[in-house]
Amino acid sequence: MTVMVQAVRKAGRSLIRDFGEVENLQVSLKGPANFVSNADRKAERILQDELTKARPSYGFIMEESGEVDGADESHRWIIDPLDGTTNFLHGIPLFCVSLALARDGVPVAGVIYNPVTDELFVAEKGAGAFMNDRRIRVAARRNLADAVVCCGLPHMGRGDFAQFGREYATIAPKVAGLRRTGTAALDLAWVAAGRFDAFWERGLSPWDMAAGIVLVREAGGYVSDLDGGDKMLAKGDIIVGNDTVRRDLLALVSKA
Ligand code: IPD
Repeated sequence: MTVMVQAVRKAGRSLIRDFGEVENLQVSLKGPANFVSNADRKAERILQDELTKARPSYGFIMEESGEVDGADESHRWIIDPLDGTTNFLHGIPLFCVSLALARDGVPVAGVIYNPVTDELFVAEKGAGAFMNDRRIRVAARRNLADAVVCCGLPHMGRGDFAQFGREYATIAPKVAGLRRTGTAALDLAWVAAGRFDAFWERGLSPWDMAAGIVLVREAGGYVSDLDGGDKMLAKGDIIVGNDTVRRDLLALVSKA
């Protein structure tokens, strides 16, 4: 955990420096509306260097540089150096660094760092979840009618617009509020911290979810894919919340 925290803080400092000069960044397109900049790449390099120094044998799954095998086949870092790239590049101060450690494919530790607010969310399997050293728990509200639910939106080049339209029409009238931030990792951290009651999204990558899965579970929450199973990383969809709210929201998503 010490190693992970040092690495994300260092990457976060690099992001803040680049955020201050966002208009000078070199930006390129990885696909339709899917951007990458030298800020993402620099932060990823910092994470990779720091983690390699501390644990030379571990492998990596990284958003920008792909997979790197390590001598130790059972441990891998899963890295999103800048989750919320589109926000970042538009000067919207809502983004984070997400780092997880997976053991035999299962995330067992997660750190999500918002360098703008200096909020550090950490969780290790069996040891609870914390924000800046304070214990956090998922919200206790049990009725969807009282819940603020966060989601992801399909956008240019990605997602099924008609399906989201049906989900919106089914869910929006039944909840107290529906939100979309543009950073799935932070959405998961905010569910762990009880700010959002629940979150669901399709079409995510392992680096968007891995750290957040540990955080939500360690904060007493429930996590599943949209079939109710635990293949979130393989399928790319996820739904989280306390036991009741996740179950009731999943029933609505499935019906839509
Ligand atoms: C994106 C964010 C966003 C989600 C997208 C992700 P990135 O990650 O998490 O909230 O809706 O699907 O790709 O590209 O900013 O690291």
